[in-house]
Amino acid sequence: MSEAVRLVEVGARDGLQNEARTLAPSVRAELIGRLVEAGLRHIEAGAFVSPRWVPQMAGTDEVLARLPKRPDLTYSVLVPNERGMSAALAAGADEVAVFTAASETFNRRNINCSIAESLARFEPVLAQAREHGVPVRGYVSCVLGCPYDGAVPVAQVVRTASALARLGCHEISLGDTIGAGVPSAVKTLLAACVTDIPVQRLAVHFHDTRGMAVANCLTALEQGVRVFDSSVSGLGGCPYSPGATGNVASEELVYLFEGLGLDTGVDLDRLVAAGGFVDQHLGRVTQSRVARARRAD
Ligand code: HMG
Ligand code: MG
Repeated sequence: MSEAVRLVEVGARDGLQNEARTLAPSVRAELIGRLVEAGLRHIEAGAFVSPRWVPQMAGTDEVLARLPKRPDLTYSVLVPNERGMSAALAAGADEVAVFTAASETFNRRNINCSIAESLARFEPVLAQAREHGVPVRGYVSCVLGCPYDGAVPVAQVVRTASALARLGCHEISLGDTIGAGVPSAVKTLLAACVTDIPVQRLAVHFHDTRGMAVANCLTALEQGVRVFDSSVSGLGGCPYSPGATGNVASEELVYLFEGLGLDTGVDLDRLVAAGGFVDQHLGRVTQSRVARARRAD
């Protein structure tokens, strides 16, 4: 068997949270079902956040209730606080993700508190998760730049990521929220992070605002990272990151990794079809060049 990489499909959360059109829970669940059919095994299904802040994620409990459950599938959800954690537990999420940022201004705009306050807020969330045996992922946003503060010191990223690891997050996803990074910056960042956190516990989460995301993923792969967040059809962005576009398209990563001889477990044609399904519901055109080429073949 060839060496494997793991894709964390975030389109149904990161993607849809930023679309002007809000999709009904039944449609979101159908999308996720199609992603499962395509072979994705780790899927972010939604977020238990304030529906006033992010209305697109309302009804995440209903999405989870409609999903096929299997021991080889992990459905993850974002939780900002204890209330979100309780909702995630009640809905039967397999994993939760807490999220903070390496930039103070972004964090305040995103979750209305400082970085230190967010970490304190996560402590009881992690305790609840431990009690119920639910693994917790940790996100750090703005690792390669902030839409408000500009450059973000690498040391600040390492400090924040390490704090999440110490709190008990099994995996830390490093988010280039505004897609500002280039490969040399990714290399510098990862070299600094691995001094404190084993590379096996790191994931990368690159938005493709400036077309650098595939190059940045390849650089992360070369640095030993094996977990990659991506969105079908390149859905995505962040409501608190003006101008940010979608995550790197899942289709691009499947094409890249399979081409490199790395097993993703994903059927590209089914993935492209799942992208077509959600694009039709949103009235958008795919941001995945691989999907466009595949349809033209
Ligand atoms: P707040 O206003 O400071 O807190 O918001 P609050 O406790 O005063 O609550 C405000 C309202 O939210 C209240 O309701 C609460 O009941 C309700 P209201 O009185 O307005 O009707 N509330 C909740 N409702 C549902 N679920 C909850 C919950 N908690 C409170 N868990 C809060 C603080 C964190 C709640 C708010 O700021 C929030 O929900 N923010 C969400 C931000 C978000 O989802 N951002 C997008 C995800 S992060 C991202 O995309 C980056 C990532 O992709 C990585 C990358 O790319 O960098 C992960
Ligand atoms: Mg994101």
